[in-house]
Amino acid sequence: MDNHFNNKVAWITGASSGIGEALAYELSVAGARLILSGRRMEELERVKQACTDPAQVQLLQLDLADAPSLEDKAAAAVSCFGHIDIMVHNGGVTQRSLVIETGMEVHRRLMEVDYFSYVALTRALLPHFVGRKGGHFVITSSVMGKIGTPMRSAYAAAKHALHGFFDCLRAEVAVDNIKVTLLTPGYIRTNISLYALTNKAYGLAKPSENITNGLPADRAARQIMKAIKRGAFEPYIGRFGGERIGLWLNRLAPGLLIRIAPKLAPK
Ligand SMILES: NC(=O)c1ccc[n+]([C@@H]2O[C@H](COP(=O)([O-])OP(=O)(O)OC[C@H]3O[C@@H](n4cnc5c(N)ncnc54)[C@H](OP(=O)(O)O)[C@@H]3O)[C@@H](O)[C@H]2O)c1
Repeated sequence: MDNHFNNKVAWITGASSGIGEALAYELSVAGARLILSGRRMEELERVKQACTDPAQVQLLQLDLADAPSLEDKAAAAVSCFGHIDIMVHNGGVTQRSLVIETGMEVHRRLMEVDYFSYVALTRALLPHFVGRKGGHFVITSSVMGKIGTPMRSAYAAAKHALHGFFDCLRAEVAVDNIKVTLLTPGYIRTNISLYALTNKAYGLAKPSENITNGLPADRAARQIMKAIKRGAFEPYIGRFGGERIGLWLNRLAPGLLIRIAPKLAPK
């Protein structure tokens, strides 16, 4: 039996729904011990009870926007089981608004939640990984971390920033046997668009057609498990669709991508 994840300790942020929830179930089935984080404790409790062995699941409430709390949260996560093997940076929020109408508070909020919190938690956890000579950072970026399409400027900027930061980190810590996997999902069927920031911070967007037609989160989680296991650098997660083609065009024919990008606004 494959025991890559058996008894490993994985900390997942954004575990109260969507991709993080689905990944918690996959890791739990594979024998991992879990620390699940998010703001909504009742949702985290629901996920915990649905895991294969709830006794091996601990909950740690966390608001990624609360920067001063994050160092202590990382210490609390380590103390849950005494160590951490896999840190899944996954919690986050998206955006649907044109640059011309988007206030600075939206840009700042997106960077705080989707980028700076990941940096802060990584900095706090890194000495632990270096001391143990091992660990795996898994980061849920996005296709929007590699390309740009209308109405996603703040979100894409935060996700692009993750690639800069974590590519550098990978180069620094490979010598310490620490791995970095930047997941680049296309459209995955979750509630993310319901909570999307619009032209004002805390605004709500409508359900997105692309997301509703996206790959179910449980299938995405199974792709993610394979990617973590093989230590992939930057795996695409999702269906073979427009997002996958967008990634290829960005690499092979960026001029063509720019011409069709206006048609790629999320529906
Ligand atoms: N769905 C897609 O098509 C897609 C595509 C590419 C990338 N992604 C990325 O996948 C990740 C997970 O999103 P999802 O699609 O699974 O959406 P989701 O179901 O809305 O999940 C988002 C998760 O992030 C948590 N979260 C949001 N704001 C938070 C905050 N301030 N502090 C702590 N936790 C916070 C939420 O928990 P609480 O509300 O309980 O705090 C929730 O568990 C995100 O990073 C997203 O950018 C999604």
